[in-house]
Amino acid sequence: MKSELTQLIALCQSRTENLFTEYLKEPVAAAPLLQEAITYAVFNGGKRIRPLLVYATGLALGTPLENLDPAAAAVELMHAYSLVHDDLPAMDNADTRRGKPSCHKVYGEAVAILAGDALQSLAFQVIIAQPAQILPHQRLKMLGILSEASGLNGMAGGQALDMAAGSNNLVDLLNLYRLKTGALLLASVQMGMVSAEITDAGLAAGLTKYAECVGLGFQLRDDLLDIESSSAVSGKPQGLDVVNSKMTYPLLVGVEKTRLKIGELHEEALAGIAGLGKDGAMLREISGYLLSRVS
Ligand code: IPE
Ligand code: IPE
Ligand code: MG
Ligand code: MG
Ligand code: MG
Repeated sequence: MKSELTQLIALCQSRTENLFTEYLKEPVAAAPLLQEAITYAVFNGGKRIRPLLVYATGLALGTPLENLDPAAAAVELMHAYSLVHDDLPAMDNADTRRGKPSCHKVYGEAVAILAGDALQSLAFQVIIAQPAQILPHQRLKMLGILSEASGLNGMAGGQALDMAAGSNNLVDLLNLYRLKTGALLLASVQMGMVSAEITDAGLAAGLTKYAECVGLGFQLRDDLLDIESSSAVSGKPQGLDVVNSKMTYPLLVGVEKTRLKIGELHEEALAGIAGLGKDGAMLREISGYLLSRVS
């Protein structure tokens, strides 16, 4: 029998992908190749873990599933854009993503850049226009969260620090991770909280702590996979961080200390959501899943 987590993952994947299909199924005569590239970038088998965090947070707080759809799809579109740009020759120069040629390898750099741009716009469009029982002030809050998490003080800012040679200093490196990866994971949990109109400040702070720890642990795990996981399993080029002279946490402190740090972050994440009691069961499992993932 499938575990509840496996079932929720499948549900999140299908809800998110159904919504993408809605937006992408009508052919756009003006730019068919761009539309194809966008479709390629979103339908190539991502784990959809940011939607998973939106849904799991909302569900833990009693929000109906359909009210979480716009935020879940939006954050995944933002993430898809970040990956298309991350793989470009001017950035990580990665030829494969999710076991397939990267977007720019199939459609060329110009189209891949534009696909990223259009994915970003689509993310905001989905929050604004997608039918759901979400009040205008909630949509506005979600737009604020997502725009901040993806911009200068979020993912894009973190990517800029990463491109500027990373850091040999642990504090700066963790800050870079918080921005480039943690920000969108935190935004996922925050948008789930907005859907639920959470009023308990202690619970909100605990969920924020949870998201911050999982976000950091997620990138540490990613760095370990770059060292240890074959391309066949991870779907991405193995050892690219060294090729690109990126200083990552395991390269700086070693693989074993990185594992210990991930374990500590998992414990901290669980402590953050202790107040949820049995309603936090799925979020607890998700932390374990994300911090021990193999791809
Ligand atoms: C990869 O993210 C990029 C990082 C932020 C580490 P994911 O591991 O969530 O990628 P997909 O979407 O499942 O391919
Ligand atoms: C990704 O970090 C961060 C993004 C914001 C896309 P990485 O460059 O390590 O991600 P992968 O390994 O290419 O997925
Ligand atoms: Mg990168
Ligand atoms: Mg990369
Ligand atoms: Mg990586």
